[in-house]
Amino acid sequence: MSQEQTAPQPPPPSASPPSNITTTSADLPPPIITLPNCILRLIHPSDAPAIQRAADSPAVAKYMSYRFANPYTLEHAQQWVGFATAFKAPGTDILPSFAICDPATNTVLGGIGIKARDDVESNMYEVGYWIGEASWGKGIMTAALRAYVKWVFETFPAINRLEGVVFEGNEASGKVLKNAGFVYEGTRRKAAVKHGVVMDILVYGLLREECSLLN
Ligand SMILES: CC(C)(COP(=O)(O)OP(=O)(O)OC[C@H]1O[C@@H](n2cnc3c(N)ncnc32)[C@H](O)[C@@H]1OP(=O)(O)O)[C@@H](O)C(=O)NCCC(=O)NCCS
Repeated sequence: MSQEQTAPQPPPPSASPPSNITTTSADLPPPIITLPNCILRLIHPSDAPAIQRAADSPAVAKYMSYRFANPYTLEHAQQWVGFATAFKAPGTDILPSFAICDPATNTVLGGIGIKARDDVESNMYEVGYWIGEASWGKGIMTAALRAYVKWVFETFPAINRLEGVVFEGNEASGKVLKNAGFVYEGTRRKAAVKHGVVMDILVYGLLREECSLLN
């Protein structure tokens, strides 16, 4: 039996709530995916401080692109919230960027989303994800990614491939992808340079027909 429960998407939260209103957990978007160790829901402007706390870590940023800042300020978090509450999957009204939250407190622990490709790659998305250091090694991202890829394939029927790209040395991310059924497809040698360090990029792919969680 599948562990996750899915729900239809609610309307997106407004971009910025009036500053004199206190946000309670009841005001937050409802879960779209509920798992034993996390919930996935749309991001809300009031999440910015929790996002900043979880994201502001050299260890979290290490294997991310420069777009994931370090130090990660409240302003960076607010910029991310602005993007994530507006970015719709191409050709749809669907917001595909989710907060990964503590099921007990609804506090943001991390994030997961897709990057759309275009032109002849419009049949695929790249997945991206991160979680704060305090939450590492508890199986949260494995559970979140497994459920998320199922949601993506079910929600976007034209998508037949998901891709994960991992900097060399990021063993945890490679394991998360394999745990979710992704297949290692090859290495783009010396494809990235970050802070002067040249790195390989490992490519993982998951085809719709390989996604064992789909009916
Ligand atoms: C990569 C990341 C998402 C993993 O999240 P997580 O919730 O800790 O992952 P899980 O707990 O599901 O663990 C998955 C596997 O990785 C292993 N693992 C966890 N942390 C690890 C680490 N620091 N080094 C090596 N292996 C690690 C776990 O033991 C587990 O192994 P198993 O499948 O053999 O049991 C998290 O470390 C992270 O956010 N890192 C920074 C951002 C990032 O790298 N994002 C991905 C960019 S491609």
